[in-house]
Amino acid sequence: MLHSVAHYQKIINDYLAHHLHDDVDEPTLFSSMNYSLMAGGKRLRPALTLAVVEMTGGTITADRLRAACALELLHTYSLIHDDLPAMDNDNLRRGKATNHVKYGAGMATLAGDGLLTLAFQWVSDNGLPSMTRSLLVAKLAQAAGPSGMVAGQARDILGEQRTLDLQQLQYLHRQKTGALLRYAVEAGGILTNQPQPMLDQLAQFGSQFGLAFQIYDDILDVTATASELGKATHKDAGENKNTYPGLLGLSGAEQQLTRALSAAKKTQQHLTEMSDYSLDGLSQFLAYFQVKIDTEESH
Ligand code: IPE
Ligand code: IPE
Ligand code: MG
Ligand code: MG
Ligand code: MG
Repeated sequence: MLHSVAHYQKIINDYLAHHLHDDVDEPTLFSSMNYSLMAGGKRLRPALTLAVVEMTGGTITADRLRAACALELLHTYSLIHDDLPAMDNDNLRRGKATNHVKYGAGMATLAGDGLLTLAFQWVSDNGLPSMTRSLLVAKLAQAAGPSGMVAGQARDILGEQRTLDLQQLQYLHRQKTGALLRYAVEAGGILTNQPQPMLDQLAQFGSQFGLAFQIYDDILDVTATASELGKATHKDAGENKNTYPGLLGLSGAEQQLTRALSAAKKTQQHLTEMSDYSLDGLSQFLAYFQVKIDTEESH
């Protein structure tokens, strides 16, 4: 059964709306965590996990949904901390005032800490088989922590003092954004017990998709408006961020985006060939990118 991204968004929003309060004991902390979590957001990461579960023959049970939604908690933490005055110093996120503007930097830091920690609770405290839970915990920690997203964020702020070359910039983007998207896709396969070669290819697709996602985010900072994105735009250059358009110009960045998307498309085809499943449903996630994907490219 193939569902739309909108369908997954709805299930995820319902779960988050009904379950955050189960585990937060202090009212202002709850309010601050809930504010950013329920401010909107495309729910892309857990939607990818759930879509892969269904594409690989699984159904969306309450336990799988809880494990998938853990990633949205973690992603929301990463946005709250990314926006802090000491990081990107942004005032608008998901169409609303950023968490620290509304609650102050101290409470925003704690809301992020709470969401990060709760993500590990949700991914481990559920009725899934213990092997599945421990694998998800290990993979999530690897993707989110100092070997993944946090390392990428460190490179991002250190990079404000120096110009990175394309290889270094690609590595940064794979870490700060690619790692969580890689986990999102791989987790879907872990939840339906896919064999290792299949998990490797799912992770590969997620990684390629994730690189494309951050290149596109860099492009949108230059080409889109704050009201379209619900966050400030035209900021990266002024903050001395290393970005694809900054290094390669807009058309060079678009070329690299097309390249990353072609690679993802190839992996998608390979996934369908190597398994009994159709991974065609991944195409609706690739449709997020408003560019033509050249499937003939050899990368
Ligand atoms: C924004 O992620 C941060 C990046 C990694 C570029 P999203 O574009 O998925 O943000 P939301 O969740 O929809 O707000
Ligand atoms: C990605 O980079 C942020 C995270 C890993 C949280 P950006 O700093 O470019 O994300 P936006 O543009 O603020 O959403
Ligand atoms: Mg940032
Ligand atoms: Mg930012
Ligand atoms: Mg950005």
